[in-house]
Amino acid sequence: MFRATLKVVLSAVIALAATAIAGAQDFPNRPLTMVIPFAAGGPTDVLGRIVAQRLGEVLGQQVVVENVGGAGGGNGSQRVANAPADGYTMVLGTVGTHAQNQTLYKRPLYNAEGDFTPVALLADVPIVLVIRKDLPVKNFKDFLAYAKANAAKMTFASAGAGSASHLACTVFNTAAGLPITHVPYRGTGPAMQDLQGGRVDYLCDMISTAKPQIDGGAVKPIAILTKDRSPALPDLSSAIEEGTQVEAYTWNAIFLPKNAPKPIVAKLNAALVETLKTPWVRERLEGLGAVVVAPDRQTPEYLTSFVKSEIEKWAAPIKASGVQVE
Ligand code: MLT
Repeated sequence: MFRATLKVVLSAVIALAATAIAGAQDFPNRPLTMVIPFAAGGPTDVLGRIVAQRLGEVLGQQVVVENVGGAGGGNGSQRVANAPADGYTMVLGTVGTHAQNQTLYKRPLYNAEGDFTPVALLADVPIVLVIRKDLPVKNFKDFLAYAKANAAKMTFASAGAGSASHLACTVFNTAAGLPITHVPYRGTGPAMQDLQGGRVDYLCDMISTAKPQIDGGAVKPIAILTKDRSPALPDLSSAIEEGTQVEAYTWNAIFLPKNAPKPIVAKLNAALVETLKTPWVRERLEGLGAVVVAPDRQTPEYLTSFVKSEIEKWAAPIKASGVQVE
């Protein structure tokens, strides 16, 4: 009786393993979905669509982009955390969705480390503080003086509580001593539209979507929030150069749901590495001011430890800001 049961169990295990291997061998044999956890037209969307197009060519299957906004990127990320771990549904995460919101939210919608399988870090993206074009200030110094004098009636926009744009302006406001009201959107795409329409006063946007608006004169740049200036906006000084000790940035990385089969993770990682090597992809990303990460930072192992260190790194400044979402 025992022997018979053992035989049945063993056959089931072997059959399951064989299905997993076969699944990995012909992966992908149908279109994949890349969830962008923000509204269309924003920086995650812009970068995601460039990567999805080339990734589809490399994999020989279309990569369909799906925008699922809300909760500062939490809704779309949660959708992927709960999806089947078969490699067909991935999320393009950010420092907000996979690090900062873990401290900002009293009860995060998911565990950024435990509920996902890290696949590849793609790019580092600087953040720029931009203001509505009719705000009567010309430079960083004027802006600080104006914002201090008018804090009670000013607003800043973001892609929602826990997004990179929210945390960037939050740590900036803390460092500069500015108690300003937050207006959340489902992405910095719609937030930028309202900044252009003069309905909010400033936004900490990713350089990739801020630069075209700055170049076109639709909004005014005040400072870059990375330590160093960006070659994409070489004349724009950093907040640190201007005397405000603050650093904020985002990054973009691909995650699958937890327990994704190793051979599928390896295939997807190799395809993403190939995507990032493609000259037109690099040109477009770099033209937007995004910085494709070095090959040693593109591995699943690197992303696993990076997420851990980013969660730890951001915990202190978020706690110091006193901002928490129930
Ligand atoms: C953010 O974290 O602020 C996002 O990247 C914004 C967006 O993509 O809309």
